[in-house]
Parts: sequence; structure tokens; C-alpha cells
Amino acid sequence: MLFHVMLGIVAFICTLIKLNLRNRLWGTSGSTGSNKPCPPGPWCFPLFGYMPFFAYKPLERLQALASNYGEICTIFLGQYRQAPVVVLNSYYTIREAFKEDAFSGRPTLKMLEVRNSGANAWSAVREKLGRNNASSQCDICEILVLGNNPWKDGKVGTPVDLKARLNLAVLNALWSIICGQRYSHDDGLVRNSVHWATLIPPLAPRLTRWNAFVHSISAVHRFLQDIIEEHKQERSTQGRNSGGMKDFIDLYLSEIDATSDPASSFYKERGEHSLLITLLDLFMAGADTTSATLYWAFLYMVLHEDVQRKVHNEIDLVLGNSPPSLDHKKLMPYTEAVLLEILRKSSLVPMGLFHSTTSNTKLLGFDIPKDTVIMANLYNLNNDAAYWGDPQTFRPERFLDDSKTTVVKFERFIPFSTGKRSCPGENLSRDQLFLFFVGLLQKFIFVSDYARPKPSDKPNNGVILSASPYTVVVRSRVVGVE
Ligand code: HEM
Repeated sequence: MLFHVMLGIVAFICTLIKLNLRNRLWGTSGSTGSNKPCPPGPWCFPLFGYMPFFAYKPLERLQALASNYGEICTIFLGQYRQAPVVVLNSYYTIREAFKEDAFSGRPTLKMLEVRNSGANAWSAVREKLGRNNASSQCDICEILVLGNNPWKDGKVGTPVDLKARLNLAVLNALWSIICGQRYSHDDGLVRNSVHWATLIPPLAPRLTRWNAFVHSISAVHRFLQDIIEEHKQERSTQGRNSGGMKDFIDLYLSEIDATSDPASSFYKERGEHSLLITLLDLFMAGADTTSATLYWAFLYMVLHEDVQRKVHNEIDLVLGNSPPSLDHKKLMPYTEAVLLEILRKSSLVPMGLFHSTTSNTKLLGFDIPKDTVIMANLYNLNNDAAYWGDPQTFRPERFLDDSKTTVVKFERFIPFSTGKRSCPGENLSRDQLFLFFVGLLQKFIFVSDYARPKPSDKPNNGVILSASPYTVVVRSRVVGVE
């Protein structure tokens, strides 16, 4: 009996060693057939790869990968444990890789099959999601709703958690740009969909209710299909060119009507399928990200009252009592610098969204086989002491020139990533951040809930780094009076 147990253990250990060896030999006998070694990387556990290290202090690990291995390295991760993940640690490697088609795929993970099953029209979508008046109008509507009652269920001056309210307002604004409808803040569907993005389970689908997620996606799929149908019917009753462009879906449908090239991702049924997938992606990626950044923003305002006071001053000087508009942006360098510092310090998407290689390719002299998963270490870019000097300090002035009147652009600061798959919601999100942030700070002062310890800026780790729940006291303010 003991002998059999021992034999079993030895066989198990041999399997683990074999697996680990196979992982570590990737690149010497990989699919390129080349003899060049893969980028170097840390020792990984058999079966679990680097996951156990990431589970413990993941952000420190991301920085350690950069300081120990330099511009590029290889790790093995959870879901991808049988295959390598190449980590790009520097701005240079990320920029060089992501400008190439070969590095612009997305991993075909089981969990992403639902959304990956269609043509991708992102380059065209990027143009359509640029700055537009519709967006600022919707944001203003939402700011007014929030501004009238940001605490909703509480009384003025009582501590509130702003998270759900911010989520709803941002989602509602996104919804009306895309579908042309606004929902009441109590609407069930919009409230449920707020949680989509937080359900995205990157590495452990079972633990993170992936099945429930897929189920809810199918329901949303059907819901969006109905909305597309409604738009199509409206267009055919009103005549295709008479109704004007109401929203993003109208714009997309008119592009489909105008497309005669069968190879285009806008062509006929392919175009319609691609519209559905695009809508799903927009809501999944857009619902939580901007509102999570705003949630960070008000936390930093509570933790840094001096910064909040300076933003109030700039608002009073430039806006007075007029509602904010995007034209005010260039007149408010300090506020702009604060928003950039919030994006840097919160590092909302620390590992980007994973890319994959679409063909055998090379980077920094290393052979990278087709279908390799690629991770951009954006967290390291935002926290590199050699570049920022004091990355741990919240210091908006770093984004201002010596005269404090001009915003400084840092090439290596890419919170929305870069290249062919960079965030298509970047402009929309930057505009929304400005309008919501300024709109609410114009009307309110956000202060600590003195009955509790000061909130912490330690993030909740996940695909996105969200602020840990906190409460604030919101006080009305009169322009010009602190
Ligand atoms: C502060 C807010 C946001 C941040 C920091 C952010 C950041 C990012 C990052 C880092 C990526 C990965 C890019 C890459 O793979 O190279 C991404 C992708 C994406 N983002 Fe955002 N994002 C934000 C808001 C939004 C919004 C508001 C929308 C939609 C309205 C959106 C839609 C998307 C989509 C659809 C993708 C995938 C694009 C593709 O696969 O080509 N994001 N975002």
C-alpha cells in the first residue's frame, strides 16, 4: 500500500516537472521551430505558473518583473499555464509591438468566445466615438440629475458611498449616446448591467461566476438585438436619409447601408453582427471604467483637500455659475493635470487587455510564436521611479510646466494603451471625466466622514484596480465661497 502511494507521488512529481520543463523550453522547440530562447522570466510553479506570486502582492510583482528582467520577460499564468505570456515592461516595447498587426490579436480564450465570435470593426468605430456634442449633452443631463441629489437615499451632509450613483450616471450617458435613450436612475436593466464589467473574470472563470456572466450576456444580447431592430424599423419608416443621425447605432447602420464592398466588416449581415458585438464590447468596457475612475477621483479629492480647493478656485475663475462644457477644458490646466494624475495614480487597467500574436513574429530579437499571449505592464509605466521620480506621491503639478499654465504631455503615459487596439473609448472617457468631475465639484465639497478612519487609497486588485469602498460627506457650495 505504502509502495503504491509512494509510486503515485513520484509519478505526480514527474508529471509536474515534465510540464514545467515543457513550459520553460517554449521558444527552443516552440511553434517557430527556431533555436532562439524565449524572453527570460522568473521561476514558475508547475501547473499554477506565476499565479501564486500574482495572488500575493500583484502590483509589486508587476514592478519586480520590470526591475528584474528589463524590457521584456516571460511568465506562465493560470488559465494560460500551458503556454507562455510575454510581458512588455517598457513604453518602447509596448509601442513597437502594438503598432504591428502581428501583435494586435486577442487571445482566443474559452471565456472570450462569446464576444470574439464576430468581425471586428474597431478602427472604424474609433473614429465614430470621438468627441461629439451628443456626448457632452448627455453628460450634462446626468450631471444635473446627480447634482440635484448625489446622495439620493441619504440627507445632505450624511456620509454616502457615491459608487452606485456614479456608475448609473456614466452608464446612462453612454447608453444615450449609443442607443438614443435615457433611463431613469431606478431602471432595473440599466442597474443590472452596471455590474457586467465587475463580473469579467480574467483568470479563474469558475470562481468568478463566469457561467452567470455568459448567461447574462445572452440576455443582454437579445435586448440589444431588439434595440437594433427598433432602429432599423424606424429608419425604414422615416426613410434612410431623412431622420438624421440620432445616435451611434444610427451612424453604424448608415455605414452598413453605404457599404458595397463584400470584404468590409460593415457589409450586410456581417456588419449587423459586428454592430451587436461592438455594442456588447462598448458596454462591457465602457460602463465600469469611467465611473471607477471618477470614484477614484473623489477619493483623491477627499484625501487631498488642498488639491480640491485649487480645483474649486479654477472652476470659480473660469466657469463661475455656468455649466461646464468641453470648451472649458483648455482653460483649466490645473483641473486637467489633476485628472491626469488620477489616471496615473489609479492605474485602472494595470495589465492592459491581453493581446495575442496573429503570426510568428519577432520583438527585440526574440522569436515570438503565433498565438502567444502578450501583456502590457501599464502599471510599471505609471510607477517607474526612474521616470516619475516620486510615483507614490499624488502630485498633479507633475503634469504642469514651470509656469503652471500649460499641461505637459508625457509620451510614456498611456493609460488607454497605444497602437492598433488602443482604447476606442479614450476621447469619450476623457471628456466624460472632465464634465462629471467639474460639474460635481462646481456644486459640492467632498470631505471625509470624520466618524470613520480616513479612507485608504489601497486598490482592490482585479482586471481593473478599483478604489476600496469609502464614504464621503457631500456639502453644497456657493461659487466663490469656500
Ligand atoms: C478611464 C477609462 C478607461 C480606461 C483607463 C481604458 C483603458 C483601456 C485599455 C488599457 C484598453 C486595452 C487596449 C489594448 O489592448 O491595447 C482598453 C480597451 C478597450 N476599451 Fe477602454 N478604457 C476606458 C474607458 C472606456 C470606455 C468609456 C469605453 C467605451 C465607451 C471603452 C471601450 C474599450 C474597448 C471596446 C476596448 C477594446 C478595444 C479592442 O479590442 O480593440 N473604454 N481600454
